[in-house]
Amino acid sequence: MTVKKRILSGMRPTGPLHLGNLHGALLNWVEMQEQYDCFFFIADWHALTSNYEDPGSISDYVRGMMIDWLSAGLLPDKSTFFVQSHIKEHAELFLILSMITPVPWLERNPTYKDQIMQLSNKDLSTFGFLGYPVLQAADIIMYKAYGVPVGIDQVPHVEITREIARRFNYLYKKVFPEPKTILTDTSKILGIDRRKMSKSYNNAIYLSDSKDDIASKTARMVTDPKRARKNDPGNPDVCNVFEFHKIYTDKEIYDTINNDCRIAKIGCVECKKIMTQNLIKRLEPIREKREHYEAVPELVDDIIIDGNNKARKVARQTMEEVRAAMKI
Ligand code: TRP
Ligand code: SF4
Repeated sequence: MTVKKRILSGMRPTGPLHLGNLHGALLNWVEMQEQYDCFFFIADWHALTSNYEDPGSISDYVRGMMIDWLSAGLLPDKSTFFVQSHIKEHAELFLILSMITPVPWLERNPTYKDQIMQLSNKDLSTFGFLGYPVLQAADIIMYKAYGVPVGIDQVPHVEITREIARRFNYLYKKVFPEPKTILTDTSKILGIDRRKMSKSYNNAIYLSDSKDDIASKTARMVTDPKRARKNDPGNPDVCNVFEFHKIYTDKEIYDTINNDCRIAKIGCVECKKIMTQNLIKRLEPIREKREHYEAVPELVDDIIIDGNNKARKVARQTMEEVRAAMKI
């Protein structure tokens, strides 16, 4: 039997996960479980870099995120799940890597500049925020990951990780493989207001939303803005509801809708109803799994403890190699 290659990825626990996270990351992860030895972790220290003023909310989201993951189809007997702050070795490796990382590498990081601009309501002129990619590098190379599945915004971070790994290997001893970026498709799904789906825009449909929540959110979705009356022909190409149909509705039906909308044979209210039912149906298995896990929080905690133990074992081994390479 060939040994599976290891991949690793993480998410910051900054709130409940939504359809954008499901299609952008989680479903990719679920698929990768067959092919790879997967390590998935909750990056709570990373959440602290921008939410340090309210750390309590981060810890509230940790178990919720684990439940979101399990509900979406991640499996504890296939993958290893852990919480970053539970594996203290990440802090040690972060410190060591910070000694060898030139500050200009961090200052020129496009994601860093971008975030400072976007989150201008927060004071991000901290050492921790600048060092975000160094901590991320520690997360990744600690497990000698072959690949890191991430969205496009994280590519610069994996690039810095490769540079840091290379520098360590060159200065001391070859301990770390350089991880590859495995680019996951960015989710095409938009929020109910047609902007990027995001918690901060208040336009998201969450995996944990009830059927009623979902229906009241889809009811607020804007359709073809030029279509004032049912008798006016519509244009699905500019309609967000139709984008949802593409994901949640069977092909024959959305082909029919595509046609009927243009000849005013179907009205937006009916069209939306069909989409909403399909969306609710698609999320049903996720909702069922959530109910199961929410009823047994100790089981969820045990899954995390188990994963932590597995991760810690690997991390300890790596740190021994690191200390030996550096003779400390
Ligand atoms: N920075 C990532 C994000 O915001 C989260 C993250 C932290 C991560 N450490 C990681 C992702 C290591 C992949 C690998 O999405
Ligand atoms: Fe959009 Fe459907 Fe209305 Fe056409 S009928 S504009 S696809 S909601």
